[in-house]
Amino acid sequence: MLLPAFILLTSITFATASHADYGYYPKGSNPTLYDSSEDSIVQLDETTFNDTVFCNADENCPSYVVEFYSDWCGHCRSYASLYKNLAKDLRGWSKVVKVAAINCADPFNENTCKANGILFFPYLKYFPRNSSDTFYGVKLRPYQSVAEMRDQITQVIMQDYAINHFEDWPTFDVLGDISTYGELWSGASESADHMAIVFESDPSAFVGAQLLLDLTKYNDKLLARRCLKGHPLVDALHITDFPTLAVFRRGDRTPVLVAELRRLLLSELEEFLHATDEETKNPSFAIGKNKTNSCFENPEKCKPLYYVSETDMLKAMRYSLFREVARNGGPLVGANLSALYSFVDILANNFPTVTLDTTNNDTELPLSNSPRAVSVFAHMRDFLDAHGLEEALSVDDWQSEFVRAEEQFENPFPISADWDHCKGSTPQYRGYTCGLWTTFHALTVSAYKTGQNDLTFRPLPILQSIRDYVLSFFGCEHCRKHFQKMTTRTFKMEAQVRTTEDTYLYLWRAHNIVNARLKGRDTEDPKFLKYQFPPMFLCPDCQDGNGRMNNAEVQSYVLEYYSRIRPVRNGTTTA
Ligand SMILES: Cc1cc2nc3c(=O)[nH]c(=O)nc-3n(C[C@H](O)[C@H](O)[C@H](O)COP(=O)(O)OP(=O)(O)OC[C@H]3O[C@@H](n4cnc5c(N)ncnc54)[C@H](O)[C@@H]3O)c2cc1C
Ligand SMILES: *[C@@H]1O[C@H](CO)[C@@H](O)[C@H](O)[C@H]1NC(C)=O
Ligand SMILES: *[C@@H]1O[C@H](CO)[C@@H](O)[C@H](O)[C@H]1NC(C)=O
Ligand SMILES: *[C@@H]1O[C@H](CO)[C@@H](O)[C@H](O)[C@H]1NC(C)=O
Ligand SMILES: *[C@@H]1O[C@H](CO)[C@@H](O)[C@H](O)[C@H]1NC(C)=O
Ligand SMILES: *[C@@H]1O[C@H](CO)[C@@H](O)[C@H](O)[C@H]1NC(C)=O
Ligand SMILES: *[C@@H]1O[C@H](CO)[C@@H](O)[C@H](O)[C@H]1NC(C)=O
Repeated sequence: MLLPAFILLTSITFATASHADYGYYPKGSNPTLYDSSEDSIVQLDETTFNDTVFCNADENCPSYVVEFYSDWCGHCRSYASLYKNLAKDLRGWSKVVKVAAINCADPFNENTCKANGILFFPYLKYFPRNSSDTFYGVKLRPYQSVAEMRDQITQVIMQDYAINHFEDWPTFDVLGDISTYGELWSGASESADHMAIVFESDPSAFVGAQLLLDLTKYNDKLLARRCLKGHPLVDALHITDFPTLAVFRRGDRTPVLVAELRRLLLSELEEFLHATDEETKNPSFAIGKNKTNSCFENPEKCKPLYYVSETDMLKAMRYSLFREVARNGGPLVGANLSALYSFVDILANNFPTVTLDTTNNDTELPLSNSPRAVSVFAHMRDFLDAHGLEEALSVDDWQSEFVRAEEQFENPFPISADWDHCKGSTPQYRGYTCGLWTTFHALTVSAYKTGQNDLTFRPLPILQSIRDYVLSFFGCEHCRKHFQKMTTRTFKMEAQVRTTEDTYLYLWRAHNIVNARLKGRDTEDPKFLKYQFPPMFLCPDCQDGNGRMNNAEVQSYVLEYYSRIRPVRNGTTTA
C-alpha cells in the first residue's frame, strides 16, 4: 500500500514542478502578502521553488533574493510594503537578480521551508546564480530602508561576481591600464554603440555598481564600466566631481554626455538611449505615492536639516557656469550667449554676499567666499561685454577665462567640499539640482530686497533671465521641457508676475508645482520628500490643516529662509 502511494506522490510533484516568474500565482491554500499581478515579486511555492532558484541548466537564470515569510506574522506584514518597494526598485536588475517570496505559513510549502532551515520570519536569503542546493543560500539582513537593502544586495552580487565572473553580467571590475580608446571597447557586444563609464572616488561605494546594474536592461545597446579616481582617463576628461557619468558613442573620443551621477541623470540617460521597453514608458520602479518620513511626528529632528548653504550655491554655480555651459562643446553664440550674459549679470548683481547673524540681533555678516565669487561673476560679465554678443565665443575661451578669474580671486568655489544641505541620503539623490533651485530662490529674494524701495524696479527681467539660462544650459532635458512649458504656458511668468513680491513668490509657486509633480517618483530622496514648501514642520503657521497656504506667513518665512545662509565651513568653523 505504501509504495504505490509514494510513487504517485513523487510523480505528481515531478509532473507539476515548473519554473516561476513575475506574474505566477502560487499554489497553496493561505493568502499571500503579495499580488502577482501588481508586485514585481516572483511568488514561489513548493512546486516551483527548486526549479526556479536552482536552475543552473538554464544559462539565463538570475540570482534570487527570497523572502521566507508567514502571512499571519505582524512583522512580515509591516515588512511587506518595504519589500514591494525594494522589488520595484530592483525591477530593472532582473537579468542579474530577481526578488522572490514564499509563504511558509502555508502547509503546502512546508517541505521547502524546512529544507531551507528557516528559523523565524521574515527570513531573507540570497541564492547565487548557479546555486544547486539550499546550502548555497546566504542570509541577508532585513534592513528597514530600500537604500540599505539595495546596498546589501549589491554587495552579495559583487561577491558572487568576484568568484564566478559571469560573462553576461555587468563588468564590475574597475578599468585597468589601457593605452588606446579602442581598448575601452573590448568586451562590448557588436550591437552596443554606446558606452557609459562611471567615475568613482571610493572603490568600496556601491554607486557605480548600482548604475551598472540599473543599465543591464540596455546591455545590447550599451556597455557600462567603472573607473576609479586616479585613472589617466579622469584627467583626460577633466573630471573633478565624483561620482560622474560619461557616455561615449562608438568611435568618438569626446563624450556625448558628462554629468554628475544622480538618479535624475539615469532617467536622462534612458531618454537619451530612446529606450522603448515597457519599464521606462511606464516607470514601474517609482516608489509608492504616499511615502512619509518622521518629519511630521518629529519636527525638531528635521528642522536642522533645512537651511540655505553658501557651499551648495557656490558648488552649483561653479558646476553650472564651468561644466554645463561647456557641455555640448559647441560655440556660445546667439541666444545662448545672450542667456549666459544676462545670467552672469544677474549673479554679479544679486548673488548674496551677507547672511544674518542670529547670535547678534540679526545683524548682517559677510559670507566667507561669496564676495569673491561675485568678483568672478562680475569679471566674467565684463569679459563677455568686452567680447561683445555678436560674435561667437568658444567654450574653451570661456573656460580658460573662468579659471583665470577663479585664480585671481583666490578660488572662491569650494569644489572639493561635499554638498551641504543638498547632500542626498545616498549619492543618487539631490546635489546639483538642489543647489540650482536654492541659488535661484536666493537670487530672487536678494533682488527683491534691493528692489522693494526702488520705484523703477521691475520683477520680470530677473525671472526671465533665470528661465533663459535654464532653457539654454540645464543638462536635464526633460526638466528643461517641463520648465519651459510651465513658465511659458501653464504657469506663464509674464501673466503671473505683477507685484514686487512676485519676484520671489513666482519661483516659490513654480517650485511647488514641480514638487507636486515629482512627489513619489524614483528621484525623490526618502529622507527629503517633495513637500509643498514650507512644510508644516518648518513653518506651522504657513499652511492650514487642508494644505492651503497663508501668504503673509509664507512671505516672511521664505524671505528669512533665503536670508539666513550658512557660510562655507572650513573644518575649523561651522558657524
Ligand atoms: C528648473 C528645474 C527643473 C526641474 N525639473 C525636473 C523634472 O522635470 N523632473 C525631475 O525629475 N527633476 C527635475 N528637477 C530636479 C528636482 O526639482 C529636484 O531638484 C531634485 O529632485 C532634488 O530634490 P531635492 O530634494 O534636493 O529638493 P529641490 O526640489 O531641489 O529643492 C531644494 C531646496 O529648496 C527648498 N525648497 C523646496 N521647495 C521650495 C519652494 N517651493 N520654494 C522655495 N524653496 C523651496 C528646500 O530647502 C529644498 O531642500 C528640476 C530642477 C530644476 C532646477
Ligand atoms: C558556479 O559556476 C562556476 C563556473 O561557471 C564555478 O566555478 C562555481 O563553483 C559554481 N558555483 C556553484 C555554487 O556551483
Ligand atoms: C528541493 O531541493 C531540496 C534540496 O536542495 C530538497 O530537500 C527538497 O526536497 C526539494 N523539493 C522538492 C519539492 O523537490
Ligand atoms: C497610501 O494611499 C493609499 C490609497 O491612496 C491608502 O490606502 C494607504 O493607506 C496610504 N498609506 C499611507 C501610509 O498613508
Ligand atoms: C549655442 O547655440 C548654437 C546655435 O544655436 C549652437 O550651435 C551651440 O551648440 C550652442 N552652444 C552651447 C554651448 O550650447
Ligand atoms: C536688538 O534689536 C532690538 C530691536 O531692534 C533692540 O531693542 C535691542 O536693543 C537690540 N539688542 C542688541 C543686543 O543689540
Ligand atoms: C578657516 O576659518 C578660520 C577661523 O575663522 C580662519 O582663521 C581661517 O583663515 C580659515 N581658513 C580658510 C582656508 O579659509
